[in-house]
Amino acid sequence: MATSMANLDIESTVRLNNGVQMPVLGLGVYQTPPERVTQNAVKFALKVGYRHVDTARIYGNEADVGEAIRESGIPRKDLFVTTKLWNSNQGYDSTLRACEASLMRLGLDYLDLYLVHFPVPDVRKESWRAMEVLLKKGRCRAIGVSNFTIRHLEELIGESHVIPSLNQVEFHPFLYQKELLKYCQKQGIQVEAYSPLARGERLKHPRIGSLAEKYAKTPAQLMIRWGLQRGLVVIPKSTREERIRENSQVFDFDISDDDIRSLDSLNEDLRLNWDPTNVT
Ligand SMILES: NC(=O)c1ccc[n+]([C@@H]2O[C@H](COP(=O)([O-])OP(=O)(O)OC[C@H]3O[C@@H](n4cnc5c(N)ncnc54)[C@H](OP(=O)(O)O)[C@@H]3O)[C@@H](O)[C@H]2O)c1
Repeated sequence: MATSMANLDIESTVRLNNGVQMPVLGLGVYQTPPERVTQNAVKFALKVGYRHVDTARIYGNEADVGEAIRESGIPRKDLFVTTKLWNSNQGYDSTLRACEASLMRLGLDYLDLYLVHFPVPDVRKESWRAMEVLLKKGRCRAIGVSNFTIRHLEELIGESHVIPSLNQVEFHPFLYQKELLKYCQKQGIQVEAYSPLARGERLKHPRIGSLAEKYAKTPAQLMIRWGLQRGLVVIPKSTREERIRENSQVFDFDISDDDIRSLDSLNEDLRLNWDPTNVT
């Protein structure tokens, strides 16, 4: 059964497994160019009500996210900032250093969520040990992973003290990762949908178009809403003000269970990013 979220709004949160509240909608900034473009996108998003930004060391725009946050004047405690540990920084000591470097670039005292960006073989166990230390020291309020399959999660849970709060993975109707979602829900791991718009590549799909029309919403709004009703945290990216606003106007309609299932059935295992399936 899909979740009905009729009474939720842009500031609504989910509770992570350690009690931290995380806004269900965030702005992604992958491939958002640094300096003015990132600063303007984040500033505009915060102006129209977003309270959550998803960046990463490898996106090269952490400093600009930090700048926009400061310029917004919004109290730090009201914002949720995620960044990620890049692959070449994995390992125990280098993870500790990478987190401090991200904090420095962002100009923040703590992160809300720090994610292991990818399950890099051999080093990911040591990286997670350092993530646990960062959590304990209060450098981040929650720790999680990204691009982890069930197998990677099982391995991690089997050898760790702290179960990840979240797994950020590619997730949209054309990549409906039902088994992974079920597994994470059972373990209390929140799933976060990246590329929730399938990077814009399926917005003209006829079923997306006809259902969007039925609810008098845009294809992008329909896809974001599907993710929210499937219980995901959703982080669409745009650099354009009108789209950043459009992508946030997803709290005034409810997709019926039948239509949620119709969207589920669009799955074609479409991966538009890296595929961790065979990573040992
Ligand atoms: N952990 C990971 O490995 C990983 C991997 C990929 C992404 N992510 C995160 O997830 C975020 C979102 O994923 P994504 O950037 O890959 O893709 P996405 O959000 O699915 O789609 C972004 C694309 O859709 C366009 N778009 C946005 N809103 C639109 C609208 N309302 N109507 C029409 N087109 C629209 C954007 O163009 P314009 O900008 O020109 O509007 C851009 O080309 C990233 O920014 C990043 O934070 C994480």
